[in-house]
Amino acid sequence: MKFFVDTAEISEIKELAASGLVDGVTTNPSLIAKSGRDFKKTIAEICEIVPGPVSAEVAATDTEGMLAEARELAKIAKNVTIKVPLTLDGLKACKALSSEGLMVNVTLCFNANQALLAAKAGATFVSPFIGRLDDIGEDGMLLIREIRQIYDNYQNLTTDILAASIRTVNHVREAALIGADVATVPPSILKALVKHPLTDKGLEAFMADWAKTGQKIV
Ligand code: E4P
Repeated sequence: MKFFVDTAEISEIKELAASGLVDGVTTNPSLIAKSGRDFKKTIAEICEIVPGPVSAEVAATDTEGMLAEARELAKIAKNVTIKVPLTLDGLKACKALSSEGLMVNVTLCFNANQALLAAKAGATFVSPFIGRLDDIGEDGMLLIREIRQIYDNYQNLTTDILAASIRTVNHVREAALIGADVATVPPSILKALVKHPLTDKGLEAFMADWAKTGQKIV
């Protein structure tokens, strides 16, 4: 399973990329607004830090507008992945852009039929939003399971499932158990994945016992 980091904050991306655990980055207009920085400059900086796919979302809602914006964003770096919304216009743009050899992430996916269409439109990634479905009392993880089953039923559907809107460490574990190809994870959740109280307690005990030996390894 690949890990993308779901943020537009350069300092957080740098810190996490240094761990070697980050395979890509996802941004969206809300994350760019939160960063308070210039969109294209931010994407360029992220692309230099992380060599994997970096999602940059179009702002237009019509196909022609999306295509014009996508071609501008694609000039920034080779690893820019164009993010389009899961609308009919977005799917048309996805088909055109993927035919041109660009990576496309179809975002705002909330049901399995939408994911099927994204795959048919040639999406590199489809982003089902787990947390936002949970927020309205639906089961976000069930959507990941359904998409996995549908994609596995048809060998010609090669789109990667990019589990998005992840809010908890359990979302990551469950998405991995189901077989999502990628999880895009907020920095706080990525850092929380490593934590276990018994790891801390065990390490403390080992260090205390090691000190008693008076030895050094180097
Ligand atoms: C990433 O591609 C998505 O835009 C993001 O995961 C959405 O997360 P949210 O529902 O927490 O805003």
